[in-house]
Amino acid sequence: MRLERLLLFIFWALPRFGKNQYRTLQISETQTLNVKEEEKLLLKRQGVRYFDITNFPSLFKTNEVKTVPEYVYPVDLINGDRVSLALTNVSTKSMYDDLAFFTSFYTRYYKSETGYDSAVWLSKKLKNVTETLGDKVSQLHIDHRDWKQFSIIVQIRGVKTPEKIVVFGSHQDSMNLILPSVMAAPGADDNGSGTVTNIEALRLYAQYLTETQDWPQNTVEFHFYSAEEGGLLGSLDVFTNYASDNKTVVAMLQQDMTGYVPDPKNEHVGVITDFTTPAYTKFVELVIDKYLSIPFIETECGYACSDHSSATKNGFPAAFVIESEFSKTNKYIHTTMDTLDRLNFGHMAEHVKLIIGTIIELSNWEFKLKVAE
Ligand SMILES: *[C@@H]1O[C@H](CO)[C@@H](O)[C@H](O)[C@H]1NC(C)=O
Ligand SMILES: *[C@@H]1O[C@H](CO)[C@@H](O)[C@H](O)[C@H]1NC(C)=O
Ligand SMILES: *[C@@H]1O[C@H](CO)[C@@H](O)[C@H](O)[C@H]1NC(C)=O
Ligand SMILES: [Zn+2]
Repeated sequence: MRLERLLLFIFWALPRFGKNQYRTLQISETQTLNVKEEEKLLLKRQGVRYFDITNFPSLFKTNEVKTVPEYVYPVDLINGDRVSLALTNVSTKSMYDDLAFFTSFYTRYYKSETGYDSAVWLSKKLKNVTETLGDKVSQLHIDHRDWKQFSIIVQIRGVKTPEKIVVFGSHQDSMNLILPSVMAAPGADDNGSGTVTNIEALRLYAQYLTETQDWPQNTVEFHFYSAEEGGLLGSLDVFTNYASDNKTVVAMLQQDMTGYVPDPKNEHVGVITDFTTPAYTKFVELVIDKYLSIPFIETECGYACSDHSSATKNGFPAAFVIESEFSKTNKYIHTTMDTLDRLNFGHMAEHVKLIIGTIIELSNWEFKLKVAE
């Protein structure tokens, strides 16, 4: 009897210890580290960025690197009228209200109870802004095995070539780097601002579709990843599954911090040029030139700096645009001081224009692979 109990306990305990004890982190193309869960936090405080690849070791074998196919993107942007129409109702108030609510959760740390509650709120909000689309829209929750905060995918299925998927991503979690399970992390800029930018763009696009019935030929998806701060865990789950399901993502645009303007006299957005896809990034720069009222500066953010890296790692083209040149981004992130009053909602509206311009230009674009010369 007692032996039985002991065995039962061992069977119960083993996977739990085994699973949580060590994590494998990829910190560059060629280096991995095995660390305890607590040590992840130490590394993050030191500014080390990583993929937590514990669940996907094969993805990172150097002999199995997935190449990103090169698609042709538009070079003439000819949809100015449709883009202006879709942007008619862009509202800094609506973004302010959303972010005020989103940052009212004590923390959106992905392992916390309030991190789950914030995902539930986000899901309801996304239902609300897309409800006029009826059955043309669907919402999927991605439950992750090891933590509670789910990722969310909103999909507007393409009417002609639904297998071609254009993705707009952001992450919903926040984190206090000192004591994540205990201390507050309003996470207004990092990375609530990216989430709210995507909510506003989706709200406008849904209104535009309702009014014009100009349904996209390609599938359009908005992704809200959980657990970015834990080593891109949510987006790794999503894109690794997309790859194993043989899905075709033709373009992924990540927005992360979008609300901080370090120098109002030199307002701009930062276009990330490392670990992103050059052809798609060039197209995104054209969209900025044509549809934003501020310029861009090219900048680098290092290995695994946000969720777009989970897309390219799985062989999908991706671009990443951030609030400014990387070295000047918001210094208050990951603290209790990452708050609303430090953000500029006009600047966030510029990031919304980027999404709307990209959606309208790509929704009916006939994607073809570039033919080698
Ligand atoms: C969606 O939100 C708006 C504004 O908050 C509200 O007026 C409306 O009733 C909501 N709709 C649903 C179905 O919840
Ligand atoms: C702008 O908002 C108004 C009022 O809600 C709505 O009737 C109109 O369809 C919207 N326009 C566009 C282009 O979405
Ligand atoms: C994906 O494609 C591979 C290779 O063509 C095939 O072996 C596999 O069964 C496909 N998987 C799914 C889920 O369709
Ligand atoms: Zn962060």
